Amino acid sequence: MSSGSSVLAGVDVRPIKVDQFEMSDPKIIKDKNRLHKLAPVAAAEIRHHVFVCGGKSCSKVGASEVKKAFVKELESRKLRYGKESKGRNPEGPILLTDCGSVGFCSIGTAVLVYPEGVWYAQVRASDVPEIIEQHLIQGEPVERLVLKTPQTIGPE
Ligand code: FES
Repeated sequence: MSSGSSVLAGVDVRPIKVDQFEMSDPKIIKDKNRLHKLAPVAAAEIRHHVFVCGGKSCSKVGASEVKKAFVKELESRKLRYGKESKGRNPEGPILLTDCGSVGFCSIGTAVLVYPEGVWYAQVRASDVPEIIEQHLIQGEPVERLVLKTPQTIGPE
């Protein structure tokens, strides 16, 4: 046994050197104007924030095609918020974001729409134009794909 280690239930346990995990001190920006310049999305008039799960299971059932379909549709309709240099619209009302697993991995691809809090399941690329037109433009969630809404959340 090396120095500094101990045996716990027959396993040689070595202490972790905390200094191996040194992190740099994050700089905190207190000036809100500077923060807004660095992240102009904070001042943007975003109507919907759409998250497309890019987790492992959703990726196996076409998450990247779903994301591409959102990108294509939103950008061609000038609805996607973002830098013009990236083909987006600085005045666009919809923010599109990748996210990691949201926990319903066996029925992906998961798509979440806020501020409504609508969670869609089993979304395929072919469903995307309908979600955009019916939900994001007209305000009516696509019921056949809805897994839950804030109204369905509660004790089971
Ligand atoms: S991988 Fe998408 S919900 Fe888990």
